[in-house]
Amino acid sequence: MQEKIVDFLKRKQGYVSGEQLGSHLGVSRQALWKHINELKDSGYEIVAVPHLGYKLVSLPDRLFASEISFGLNTRYIGRRIYYYETVSSTMDIAMELGIKGASEGTIVVAEAQTEGRGRLGRRWLSPKYKGIYTSIILRPNILPNSASFFSLLSAISVCGAVEEMLGLEVEIKWPNDLLIGNRKFAGILTELSGEIDEVRFIVIGAGINVNSSRDSLPPGATSLKEENGSFVNRADLLKEILRKVEQYYIIFNSKGSAPIIEEWQSHRNTIGKRIKVTCKNCHLEGMAVDIDTDGALLVRTDSGIVKKVMAGDVLYCR
Ligand code: BTN
Repeated sequence: MQEKIVDFLKRKQGYVSGEQLGSHLGVSRQALWKHINELKDSGYEIVAVPHLGYKLVSLPDRLFASEISFGLNTRYIGRRIYYYETVSSTMDIAMELGIKGASEGTIVVAEAQTEGRGRLGRRWLSPKYKGIYTSIILRPNILPNSASFFSLLSAISVCGAVEEMLGLEVEIKWPNDLLIGNRKFAGILTELSGEIDEVRFIVIGAGINVNSSRDSLPPGATSLKEENGSFVNRADLLKEILRKVEQYYIIFNSKGSAPIIEEWQSHRNTIGKRIKVTCKNCHLEGMAVDIDTDGALLVRTDSGIVKKVMAGDVLYCR
């Protein structure tokens, strides 16, 4: 009911009489009053003026499912949203939902994570109401060794949304670190459930430092607010990211990975830079020359041999 009230007030934009609102939603004035008070408690600023009615003045800075759904207009990404105040990790919840058969495009969003995780066993700091911490369930028809390609797809989605919404220049450090001015503000983690030769589903996790202040961030990190100079609306940004993930996923399903790799290449990225890569059983230095069709990084070492790196950590050399 509360979602419907907010929806109606948002669409009307001005004052709506209690009578109109009540009859539209089929509730009594008393019930309406109760719901309005509950909405106020959740942070919606609603004024009530005698003879004029109710008006929605401002929205809370929360990633409520109703806020994300409003005007989202996607076909399946984000059509089902699980919202939490605090979770251990949205990856764990999404994994459980995936095993239970959650539909493609289902997302898990949390305002805070107590055990947010990053790539290579690292932690992802997830302070309350300051960032976007989300996991998306997809069921692509791919082999397990292509799953990391989805990190690139997600990276271009976040990059595109930030560049369009805020006009900031973002660099993608292979495979999926998102940087502004050499400082990381977002990362992507892709996990999968399946067998050696079959993917049942994948979960793409995105962590974005949105409104944190620099002194609360790890060294070398930044947030969008720090770079933009003002507060960033998290719900609007998340919606734009979900739209882009869907757009690229549709392209991937009809045309394969090439257009996604091409789009990745078109953003400022690691290619053409001298790098050091640390992976599980390797450590190499050389020139990043290209990305393979499965998203792997191709590095030309000083001996002239081109090596393919599937996963690892990149450091830029000066
Ligand atoms: C990285 O750069 O190492 C990847 C960070 C991914 C963090 C996100 S936050 C939402 C989701 N839940 C997690 O526990 N991790 C991912």
